[in-house]
Amino acid sequence: MAEKDEIFKRTHSCGELDIRELNREVTLMGWVHSRRDHGGLIFIDLRDRDGITQIVLNPEIDKISHEMAQSIRNEFVLAIKGKVSARPKDMINPKLKTGEIEVYADNLRILNESRSLPFPLDEHSGISENLRLKYRYLDLRRPFLQGNLILRHKVVKRVRDLLDKKGFIEIETPFLTKSTPEGARDYLVPSRVNPGKFYAMPQSPQLFKQILMVSGFDRYFQIVKCFRDEDLRADRQPEFTQIDMEMSFIEREDIFLLIEEMMAEIFREIKGINIDTPFPILGYKEAIERFGIDKPDIRYGLELKDITDIAKETEFQVFSKTVEEGGKIKGINVKLGSRFSRKELDDLTGMVIGYGAKGLAWIKITEEGYKSPITKFFSKEMLDSIAEALKGEKGDLLLFVADSPEVVTSSLCQLRIHLGERLELPDKDKYGFVWITDFPLLEYDEAEKRYIAMHHPFTAPVDEDLRLFDEDPARIRAKAYDLVLNGQEIGGGSIRIHLRDIQQKMFNALGIDEKEAILRFGFLLEALEYGAPPHGGIALGLDRLIMILAGAASIRDVIAFPKTQKAACLMTDAPSEVDEKQLKELKLKVERD
Ligand code: AMO
Ligand code: AMP
Repeated sequence: MAEKDEIFKRTHSCGELDIRELNREVTLMGWVHSRRDHGGLIFIDLRDRDGITQIVLNPEIDKISHEMAQSIRNEFVLAIKGKVSARPKDMINPKLKTGEIEVYADNLRILNESRSLPFPLDEHSGISENLRLKYRYLDLRRPFLQGNLILRHKVVKRVRDLLDKKGFIEIETPFLTKSTPEGARDYLVPSRVNPGKFYAMPQSPQLFKQILMVSGFDRYFQIVKCFRDEDLRADRQPEFTQIDMEMSFIEREDIFLLIEEMMAEIFREIKGINIDTPFPILGYKEAIERFGIDKPDIRYGLELKDITDIAKETEFQVFSKTVEEGGKIKGINVKLGSRFSRKELDDLTGMVIGYGAKGLAWIKITEEGYKSPITKFFSKEMLDSIAEALKGEKGDLLLFVADSPEVVTSSLCQLRIHLGERLELPDKDKYGFVWITDFPLLEYDEAEKRYIAMHHPFTAPVDEDLRLFDEDPARIRAKAYDLVLNGQEIGGGSIRIHLRDIQQKMFNALGIDEKEAILRFGFLLEALEYGAPPHGGIALGLDRLIMILAGAASIRDVIAFPKTQKAACLMTDAPSEVDEKQLKELKLKVERD
């Protein structure tokens, strides 16, 4: 019988008990996942982080608890004492670790009540994400999200242990700092004691980790928040976490080896999967040519094939004219795609037009030969050569875009991704790692009418391309590399510039003259003059990696308190307006329109 002042001390979690604990007296604490009143007996599924245990309240064992249990609703917090019993055979739930037992309560205490929830916590209900984000603490009770955060913890722990074992030292770098250009806008923080001056939140610890190399730390790492004010997508957050690393006296291959070992260990220890190492290496140019993108999902084919030379002589004006004007024709082969209906082809055409193409030409290879509205413009030999170039066989569908090289690349790339998803081409059990290398150092920004760094301004150029700074900067290759997994960029890094004059050359190429360079990065330039060792590093996007490991569709599902597409936290209502007093202290005025 329940005794009022009995002390409750948790003995087990709700996911722990099994048949080996039969007849044991236990105390469990947790949330009411569900309650079923069977007249005589009341069943409560009691839940905590670890799992669910079925509690039975029998009025013959404890009348008071049974009565209390009648008023209990979902998500009340309970403590129960009771005895572990075997479930009747037909009540065994093999899906639960605790499925063979139940606990007959002989004492129950309500530790807290709960209002009715704004949404049910079961997995598959279609609740608006905004409502879930407003009540994030409730959403985080769901096993899927709890599992993701526990997975995240385990990955971070492995990474820390591995890097520690390899002689890396974790060092914190400032959050209130100076702007580090990584290509996004900075989040700025006004300084009260220096009116009119601002700190920038770091877009990455890039410059600090390089400076730590100058200081001789040799191997640095940090699991660190980065802040970027950029347009958000499903795989981007304004604050996100990097596994950030830097090493001295190394080559690119040392970094590849380290990251491959790290990935192999994470996948083995956490997913029980053996991944193949070393990862394939794909040059940037080849990646663009074959996949139309520098982060290809290499788990499936549908590669882009250039048929400009074969098809330029055709009477099909769309093709011949494009080539005359310096354009290109590329195609992809959709295996067994000749069953696509006219409507499906029209939809695909609409899709590529959405990406800037003027149309989508198609040829079906059928039992009766080539089928297409444009075959009449091509000789049989030409069609055969085109089919051969695309490795076309009976049953296949060949799709082509003729346009400027940029439009051909981007529209076919999107078409490839779209078809890959629609036809479920990537093998869900495979992990497609690939290193992308030999990026251009610079890219021309039409809007700004100047070169910008493709990676960041501290990335070293390939030695033999140094002379191109004066001749043709666009052709300089960078000692940069990205790590791509299943078509997502999960990391990027480079060998850095450690010589001051080359750093200045780079700044010059970016239109930053000596004076401005000293103003913005004087500390780095100076540090490079005091014995900076050759060094390089990489940063992995932790959130994206966890997303893939967890099979989550959104980056928000692997972050405890994420922000919306509009960079807002719906739970705390940040960002929000501040007091006039605070603004006054900061000597700031807000313009309202
Ligand atoms: P980079 O800018 O490539 O490199 O960033 C490294 C990795 O961080 C992840 N990432 C993001 N994840 C979520 N939301 C975002 N907004 C976001 N932006 C980037 C990506 C990316 O590959 N300092 C360099 C690293 C170096 O050179 O060592 C850097 O920050 O997975
Ligand atoms: P048209 O001659 O405009 O009727 O086009 C005939 C076929 O060629 C249609 O299937 C169009 O979608 C396709 N087409 C038109 N322009 C292009 C282009 N630039 N590249 C590839 N296909 C095109």
